[in-house]
Amino acid sequence: MRSYHVDSGAGIEGLALREHATPEPGPGQVLLAVRAVSLNYRELMVLRGDYVLPVKPDVVPVSDGAGDVVAVGAGVDPSLVGARVAATMFPSWQDGPFGVEHLPQLGGSLDGLLTELAVVDERGLVPVPAHLSYEEAATLPCAAVTAWNALTGGDGLQAGQTVVVQGSGGVSLFALQFAKAHGARVIATTSSPAKAARLADLGADEVIDYRAEPDWPARVKALTDGGADRVIDVAGVLDQSLAAVRVAGHVACVGFISGTAHPLDPRLLFAAGATIRPIAVGHRAHFRAMNKAIEANSLHPLIDRTFRFDDAPEAFRYYASGEAFGKVVITI
Ligand SMILES: NC(=O)c1ccc[n+]([C@@H]2O[C@H](COP(=O)([O-])OP(=O)(O)OC[C@H]3O[C@@H](n4cnc5c(N)ncnc54)[C@H](OP(=O)(O)O)[C@@H]3O)[C@@H](O)[C@H]2O)c1
Repeated sequence: MRSYHVDSGAGIEGLALREHATPEPGPGQVLLAVRAVSLNYRELMVLRGDYVLPVKPDVVPVSDGAGDVVAVGAGVDPSLVGARVAATMFPSWQDGPFGVEHLPQLGGSLDGLLTELAVVDERGLVPVPAHLSYEEAATLPCAAVTAWNALTGGDGLQAGQTVVVQGSGGVSLFALQFAKAHGARVIATTSSPAKAARLADLGADEVIDYRAEPDWPARVKALTDGGADRVIDVAGVLDQSLAAVRVAGHVACVGFISGTAHPLDPRLLFAAGATIRPIAVGHRAHFRAMNKAIEANSLHPLIDRTFRFDDAPEAFRYYASGEAFGKVVITI
């Protein structure tokens, strides 16, 4: 069987495809035939060498994937063989608050899923919604669970509330879909008129081009009664998110795509009177609850493009170009 390997900071040209003997699952583990994986921003950080969590040398990259259980180790129910499953990013995090004991993560300190066969912890798997293809299911573990946690955590999103989603990346597109399924009103921000039109087609009630209108929080305030109930901050613009959220509203602190140009003045936090909640993807119980909602609403993740396993470096290059609208997937 074949696996890609890479060292943190080695770049896309550092991806190396190697042959291995078929691995054996140990106690509590299963052997997964990986059918598809999807790329997230974290993969680019691993390749750049600035991922925020530890990365093992010569790691098998990519956290997100789905496939079939083909063998089980001691202590695992043999009826699991044949199950269609997706892997959780933090295999030991089942429920409750995040802690350092849950830091080991696929495609980082643990080998990931850009491989034909993977040995994974049985506790780090969830069944795949029946109506989804392997490619669709492979998009869920990081981006979708993060969006779900960002929307349902804290007081939890209520129908009729207003949510701001930033940009048209993986997390934000899932947040848009889930927020609409909750009966919320969605204000999306994006970087171009073409992407704005696509976000409106997907159900965004209002779209603001943050390049044409840098003071987008003022537009959010004007479009709402004193600010949005929730902002899903993937851009790392907490000063702007606090300016866009209502008093006692909720800002999910998810990412920092725009770098460190937006330091947070504590006076803004006092003035906003809002809660900022840092998100670390989510636990297995989040994943299961999200899958129920995906099934109940017959949701399908948006896939931009699918690549073959042998063309994985090309998939990384395409994803890094920022052209994708929807997930970039590799079929195995
Ligand atoms: N905390 C967690 O658990 C967690 C989990 C997943 C991801 N993240 C983080 O969340 C962020 C998004 O991840 P992703 O996987 O969704 O990324 P992605 O799919 O690569 O999406 C990137 C998108 O962000 C938008 N963007 C770029 N610069 C922006 C800016 N200045 N303001 C607003 N939007 C901007 C762009 O869309 P437009 O052109 O439409 O603006 C771009 O398509 C990353 O920082 C990632 O590390 C964190």
